Amino acid sequence: MQQERLKVLLDEEILAQRVKAMGLEIREVYGDVPITVIAVLKGSFMFMADLVRAIGGDVKVEFLGVSSYHGGTRSTGAVKITQDLRHPIEGQHCLVVEDIVDTGLTMDYLRRLLEVRGPKSLRVATLLDKPINREIEVAVEFVGFSIPDEFVVGYGLDLGELYRNLPYIAVYTP
Ligand code: PRP
Repeated sequence: MQQERLKVLLDEEILAQRVKAMGLEIREVYGDVPITVIAVLKGSFMFMADLVRAIGGDVKVEFLGVSSYHGGTRSTGAVKITQDLRHPIEGQHCLVVEDIVDTGLTMDYLRRLLEVRGPKSLRVATLLDKPINREIEVAVEFVGFSIPDEFVVGYGLDLGELYRNLPYIAVYTP
């Protein structure tokens, strides 16, 4: 771990507060209905674990394995499904959970992939949003933090599969 290349952007306390507030906001929007939370792997695993505890009520958890960066620091736009959902989502209120929406290409692809499966509703929650990098307009209903165009790691986000275990989000300077 190259600690000297990391600068904390969002510390543990700020993350915990914001994720808790997002959970309450999400439950309020959905009301008292079961929600199928679809975590987009791998980056969202930590956010998802904290978020579902903050949402409360009836929640189902599903995982969708997706890869779009292929190890570098730039998005290529090519999306690969590495693990599909275990169960149908037809007729269910679905919430797709992402760690970051950057160009928007991954989320655009996922929204179209999931819509055709007939969910009753489909919304997106992302912890981080980089609106400045958007290459395609895509609906994102719940955003934790809008961040500048910096390469960030931690709290699920990686660089070459490392740094996902940091409890905070940091800017990585090469
Ligand atoms: C990241 C992130 C999103 C996507 C966002 O995934 O988790 O899925 O990139 O980028 P975009 O808006 O430019 O499409 P990544 O491919 O790094 O996989 P990972 O979640 O397994 O780390």
